[in-house]
Amino acid sequence: MRDKVRECISYIRKITDFEPEIAMILGSGLGGYTRQMDEVICSIPYSRIPGFPVSTVSGHAGKFVMGYIKGVPVIFMDGRVHYYEGYAPEDVVLPVRVMRAMGAKVLFLTNAAGGLNEEYAPGSLVVLRDHVSLYVPNPLIGRNDPDEGVRFPDMTEVYDRSLRKIIADCASVKDIPISEGVYCQLSGPSYETPFEIMILSRLGVDLVGMSTVMEAITGHHLGMKVCGISLVTNMAAGISTQPLNHDEVKQAGKDSSEYFAVLVTDSLCAIKQHLDAEPHTVSKD
Ligand code: HPA
Repeated sequence: MRDKVRECISYIRKITDFEPEIAMILGSGLGGYTRQMDEVICSIPYSRIPGFPVSTVSGHAGKFVMGYIKGVPVIFMDGRVHYYEGYAPEDVVLPVRVMRAMGAKVLFLTNAAGGLNEEYAPGSLVVLRDHVSLYVPNPLIGRNDPDEGVRFPDMTEVYDRSLRKIIADCASVKDIPISEGVYCQLSGPSYETPFEIMILSRLGVDLVGMSTVMEAITGHHLGMKVCGISLVTNMAAGISTQPLNHDEVKQAGKDSSEYFAVLVTDSLCAIKQHLDAEPHTVSKD
């Protein structure tokens, strides 16, 4: 285990021996989801964990919340750390390594995203099928620890096919419209120009945002099963004629919180059943 991860784990293990099965990162405006927990075991602000990056963005609380949703042991990141905040790529993905080291086998990513696909509207939910990253370094650059994963990890199926189907099935049972799309992470913090969006759109990108891909690459490298849902908070620059702003992004997260919560809870339960039926074989401990 890397030194930084070891230091974080030794602090967390003084507080709790909680072992999550699923690690979930809550995107902008979606932090309210932790209210759905039946039992909170503990909550640890990032600022207390030695060497841990602290989220500085409004709408991101900056704490781990651990506990149970309908019996499923989950660790939530209520607030993520973004590359545009000035952290080194290795620090942006440190939380993923820590949650993996605590026992999480699944990495469930959520984010607020701008929509390029004209079939979307603000409030649309989209399951991630694949990703692209532009102007963002690969978080695996640097020394590779073979105990964590291989030097050149395959990325053919970052977003686990079975988990994608589980989420789609849960949405269908509750009549929640959902589709699949390709997400592009750009560095931010400025939003994209209309011309950048036009280029991405011609390349087949469905969604843009400032997170997720670095975390997905790391989780996949660590042998976690990865899945993700984007909430379209706005149509991307030039597709929408309105100037973009972060308040709109946070508000859209709040407006959709009810059906987002239903879908996430059902998906967490179905993913747990899936894990129980087909034990995860990859163990890096
Ligand atoms: N662009 C980038 N990131 C975003 C957007 C957007 O339009 N909306 C929410 N996060």
